[in-house]
Amino acid sequence: MSIKTALTSLLDIEHPILLAPMAGVSGGALASAVTNAGGLGVIGGGYGDRDWLTGELLKAGNTQVGIGFITWSLQKNPGLLDVALAYRPKAMFLSFGDIDGFAPRIRQAEIPLIAQVQTVAQARKAVADGADIIVAQGTEAGGHGGGRATLPLVPAIVDAVGKQVPVIAAGGIADGRGLAAALMLGASGVLCGSVFYASEESLAHPKSKEAAIAGSGDNTVRSSVIDVAREIDWPAQWNIRTLKNTFIDQWHGDLDGLRRNVATEMPRYVKARDAGDVDVSAVIVGEAVDLIRRDEGGAAIVQRIVSEAEVHLRHAPQMLG
Ligand SMILES: Cc1cc2nc3c(=O)[nH]c(=O)nc-3n(C[C@H](O)[C@H](O)[C@H](O)COP(=O)(O)O)c2cc1C
Repeated sequence: MSIKTALTSLLDIEHPILLAPMAGVSGGALASAVTNAGGLGVIGGGYGDRDWLTGELLKAGNTQVGIGFITWSLQKNPGLLDVALAYRPKAMFLSFGDIDGFAPRIRQAEIPLIAQVQTVAQARKAVADGADIIVAQGTEAGGHGGGRATLPLVPAIVDAVGKQVPVIAAGGIADGRGLAAALMLGASGVLCGSVFYASEESLAHPKSKEAAIAGSGDNTVRSSVIDVAREIDWPAQWNIRTLKNTFIDQWHGDLDGLRRNVATEMPRYVKARDAGDVDVSAVIVGEAVDLIRRDEGGAAIVQRIVSEAEVHLRHAPQMLG
């Protein structure tokens, strides 16, 4: 048995599971593992380092993967889209900003365009601007995001645009229960990030992976601390969910103080990140961190989520009594 949806037919994939384009985590090895397991792996192009992206695309080899960019960052470096399109990715994935400046070129190249949004209004606009697939991302998600929760956001976006395009649920989904629930909400699949954070192929620091495996969703927070510390100029509507740590506790209520001290705090942060010092550098995971397991590869995670979901879906009719 397998789970077939509008998403699996549009992308011609076996399972309705996408790897999130996690900057600094989702490289070519992880993305190709997910694609080879029947999902779609998406490389996290992040803020657009061309050499890094080309290297990771090489690591994906002949496996077809998608490429993700942070839209407002791509707007500052639009030439990078040509590099991505020349590779003929299986899909282009854009989050955090208006896609209208990029959608025509992507559509012209006949590459499916996936847009990740955080509100119903953004979903409507992204479809009007040319998105082929919408990812409805709830605030439970690890990494950057907005304020709405996955459970009510997904069906609201399905109602708004689901007749035109497949909708994928994201934020807090890390096992077969989450996939089955997302399908019940009307989604055609799921996008997962946190559950792949500690996977064998993830590019996260080994000490950060350990902290994620030990972490609890009770202990995550959305803040702008690490963006201010890294001097990344994120628009105010999005902040980033991470595990709490000493550095975030110190500066969470005092971003202006952090800005005044950035000359010393930025090098301290970067040094800690390179050393895997998780008291200072952020472990970027969401509320689903409780469900992360040790020693799983990307392919095993895909297979586990699908086979668990199949069991839940098969048993669902019994609840009807
Ligand atoms: C470590 C990490 C890095 C992320 N980086 C990006 C990114 O560069 N671009 C992006 O569109 N989303 C990014 N995200 C958000 C994901 O696209 C996705 O919405 C999220 O992981 C889904 O929720 P989950 O973490 O609960 O699975 C990131 C998420 C994580 C955990």
